[in-house]
Amino acid sequence: MNDNLHQLRCFGCGSQIVASDSKPDFRCSICGDLFEVEYPGWQARKGPDRPNAGALKWLWRERRMSTEALDQSGVWRFRELLPILNNFGNAVTLREGNTPLYHLPRAARALGIDQLYAKHQGMNPTGSFKDTGMTTALSVARERGFEWVACASTGNTSAAMAAYAARAGLRSLVLIPDGKIAWGKLAQAMDYGAVTCQVKTDFDGCVRVLTQVVKAAHIYLLNSVNPYRLEGQKTPAFELAEAFDWNVPDHVIVPGGNLANSAALEKGFREMVELGLVARMPRISVIQAAGANPLARSFVENAGTAMTPVEAHTRATAIRIGNPASWRKAARAIQTTGGWCLDVTEAEIAIAKAEIGAEGLGCEPASAVTLAGLRKLRAQGSIASGETVVLILTGHSLKDADYTIDFHRGELLRDDEKIGHEDEINKLRRNAVSVEPTMDAVLAALRGVVG
Ligand code: F0G
Repeated sequence: MNDNLHQLRCFGCGSQIVASDSKPDFRCSICGDLFEVEYPGWQARKGPDRPNAGALKWLWRERRMSTEALDQSGVWRFRELLPILNNFGNAVTLREGNTPLYHLPRAARALGIDQLYAKHQGMNPTGSFKDTGMTTALSVARERGFEWVACASTGNTSAAMAAYAARAGLRSLVLIPDGKIAWGKLAQAMDYGAVTCQVKTDFDGCVRVLTQVVKAAHIYLLNSVNPYRLEGQKTPAFELAEAFDWNVPDHVIVPGGNLANSAALEKGFREMVELGLVARMPRISVIQAAGANPLARSFVENAGTAMTPVEAHTRATAIRIGNPASWRKAARAIQTTGGWCLDVTEAEIAIAKAEIGAEGLGCEPASAVTLAGLRKLRAQGSIASGETVVLILTGHSLKDADYTIDFHRGELLRDDEKIGHEDEINKLRRNAVSVEPTMDAVLAALRGVVG
């Protein structure tokens, strides 16, 4: 495939535009909805003209041995399915992607599932899944000659954007909700040289302000309303298919915040089916925090056909979002694949995070909603024991060390939040103990643990 042709199609009204006609806020001028990147050339190449699936699979695997930066990227090694640049030489990469797929034997046993895996997107260069989408969208910004890029963020997008902008020699502007993001993420934005504004509002307020800024100034918007972000974020679907020898798992479970990632993964799987690379779609389920659950509510109230924004509150600050931009895309991903949308409580998130930690992996709180959601799905009989399930872990444990320490010190949750979970929490807590500098003191501490 060498047709570097793409266009943008409105998700709401279906109107098609050429990429250069998109507005600074990436909203459709007819209906206000978001766009999706599409590749008309692929439609024309059905039947015998289809790309040779076997040759592509071989090529993508071979590239992992290459010393070229673009080949070493777990995003750009699939560049035949990413014809969004006129010149791949403009790609900005930190060797993102190619993230590990881990078996979770203990959680699998506890849940009575044979095949439970975690795809750890926190193992990306800046520690979150955002890198896969940032490499694509920021490369487009560079190719189009922008000098400034910007995002509103709960922390991970800003860390990723700041890093990729720095690599490309672009300037970056970050709007983050004042006091409501994890310190590790703020530190990254500063370290990578972003102009960082801590805005006295929440994430949804930051989005409102930034939308006005990008209309007034020549700045390229890198929030996930930018459809090129989703192009990069679809590639973990390719990696998953490859890891399962071009089969797909039965079920993929994704955390839901601004709701672009679930839609991106669905797009990745859908394109593989269309191109004959895999035979079927997995179910895609989205899990939100109970305090930031507008989509989960909408599935209860109206099967995901209309969403009412909420005022968001959760300690999983990455997904503290009340008015998610991509909710329609995510709802379609869930509906068309036969997945579910649920919410989980603060205690359920904290417990699931500690369980993932106890598997030797760790993740940030927002990622742990996936395991908490799986437990609920299993309890309600939605997932059979023989199914292959993949949890998408979106961020690295060290992004939000305060949360982890507070949990193990017993300072994270209020008593009313712990009700019914006290035993599980006590079993998982591993507080650090303060000891005198003697062998006896250390041995006493050890006896305290092993009984
Ligand atoms: N997990 C983590 C660790 C995140 O940082 C985010 C989103 C999500 C899950 C949800 O993904 O928005 O595609 O549904 N973080 C954004 C940010 C909003 O600004 O970093 P989503």
